[in-house]
Amino acid sequence: MGKKKHSDGKTVRVHDRDFRLYISEQKIRKSISSMAEAIEQAYGELNPILLPVLNGSFIFAADLVRELSMNFELAFIKAQSYDAFHSTGDISERIGLELDIRGRHVLLIEDIIDTGNTMAWMLKKLAEKQPASLDIATLLFKPEAYLHDFPIRFVGMEIPDAFVVGYGLDYDGHGRNLKAIYQVC
Ligand code: IMP
Repeated sequence: MGKKKHSDGKTVRVHDRDFRLYISEQKIRKSISSMAEAIEQAYGELNPILLPVLNGSFIFAADLVRELSMNFELAFIKAQSYDAFHSTGDISERIGLELDIRGRHVLLIEDIIDTGNTMAWMLKKLAEKQPASLDIATLLFKPEAYLHDFPIRFVGMEIPDAFVVGYGLDYDGHGRNLKAIYQVC
C-alpha cells in the first residue's frame, strides 16, 4: 500500500514522503461522536439523505453513520477532478446520484474541505435539484485555504493549511488505510 511504519510509530512513510502523527484514532472517534449528536439534534425525524462524497469520505462516513440512531437514507456521489469542473453534462450521470433529492433534506458528507472548490461545484449542481435543505458535514476544515463563503454546518476539526493523509485521505493514491491522520513532515 506504499505505507511503511517507522520504528517509533509516530511517523509513517507514505509513498515518497514522511508524515507525522497529527490526529489520533481516539480524537477522531470523539469528534465523530459529537458531530453525530449535533446531526441527530438537527435532523430528528426529517429522514435526511446522507451523501458521502467519494472517494475520501468513505471511512469517515462509515464511522459517522454507525453513530446515528435516527432514520436516514444513504447514497454516494463522486467528486470530479478540477478538469471536469469545466465540462458540461448532467450531474446525475457524472456523479452517479440516483436518488431523487427534490424536497428532501440533504447532508453532504466530506472528509476535508480545503479550498472549497469541489464543494462549491457540488452545492451548485445539487441546489438545481431543489432539495428542501442542503448542508455539509466535514471531518476536517482548513480555514486558511478556504476560498468560498458557503456555510459549513458541521465541522469536526479545523486544521492548518498543511497536507494530511490517513483515515480515508490519500497522498497520490496511498495511505487511505492509516487509522489515524498524519501531517506531512
Ligand atoms: P478542495 O480544495 O476543498 O476542493 O478539496 C478537494 C479535495 O482535495 C478534497 O475533497 C480531498 O479529496 C483533497 N484534499 C484536500 N486537502 C487534502 C489533504 O490535506 N490531504 C488529502 N487530500 C486533500
